Amino acid sequence: MTWEETIRFIRTQPEYKYLVDKAYFEEDLILNVQRFMQSDEFRETLKLLNQYQPNAKTILDIGSGNGISAVALALEGYTVVSIEPDSSDTVGAGAIRKLKTHYNLDNLEVYEAFAEELQLPNDSFDIVYARQCMHHAYDLGKFVAEASRVTKKNGLFITIRDHVIFNKNDKEWFLENHPLQKFYGGENAFKPTEYKNAMENAGLEIKKEMKYYDSVINYFPSTKEEITNIFQLSKSKAITHLNNKIGILSKISFLQKLYLKKIGLNKKNFYDENKIPGRMYSYLCIKK
Ligand SMILES: C[S@@+](CC[C@H](N)C(=O)[O-])C[C@H]1O[C@@H](n2cnc3c(N)ncnc32)[C@H](O)[C@@H]1O
Repeated sequence: MTWEETIRFIRTQPEYKYLVDKAYFEEDLILNVQRFMQSDEFRETLKLLNQYQPNAKTILDIGSGNGISAVALALEGYTVVSIEPDSSDTVGAGAIRKLKTHYNLDNLEVYEAFAEELQLPNDSFDIVYARQCMHHAYDLGKFVAEASRVTKKNGLFITIRDHVIFNKNDKEWFLENHPLQKFYGGENAFKPTEYKNAMENAGLEIKKEMKYYDSVINYFPSTKEEITNIFQLSKSKAITHLNNKIGILSKISFLQKLYLKKIGLNKKNFYDENKIPGRMYSYLCIKK
């Protein structure tokens, strides 16, 4: 199946409803944009854009898919160029053009292109943004070099939610667990060192590496509260379990600590990104 066929297929399957919803794969393109704009991820991204490029006017959105971010950024007032190699009307450039017409956006241009072959002038954008796209690069070095080439000096290159793997087995584990890989086979991921080497080789200074648990940008649709509360909840459950075993003695904090240690329930183990297949990272770089 192609990527487009995969998305059309999963829309018909009830077991993929949550994924379709949370990954903005609905057929209703406008609804996807509205929901993306209200997301904690997008709000947090806007904060970072304002913090690192407060006077930015122009953005290149690489690999825009069905256009959620390109359109959202244009609606926020940026002048946006969107590039997307897939021409489809539901997950590609066709979808973005439909949204451009719907919202009457003069400040959004759409081109069908790969990041590795940008037909755009040097030093043209204040910000170059790529959401869930860099890990699809067919040539990571070229992808990042081209992104850097079109970024203005002191401009921002921001990559969001890219899958990360640590070794060969970890990559196999990620691919086996990816919900759509069995349909379209197009998933990929790189090691953090591969992303960072590509950035440094392209003349970019890495200002921030956001590991999985560092930002809601990565772990959305989970919220900050959920991520914090789920640990507290697990601790309470463990203490209840202890109470069932030893009764009133479970109130003694020393015994609680000993028990939590015995069952290995601590923050370090709990928030262990190694337990998440293909956990996502985000990067902020400044063009030197
Ligand atoms: C997971 S989708 C993300 C789409 C969109 N950015 C989003 O967050 O919803 C990855 C997108 O990257 C595009 N893509 C794949 N390889 C690419 C490349 N080498 N250069 C630019 N875009 C690419 C795909 O066509 C697809 O639309």
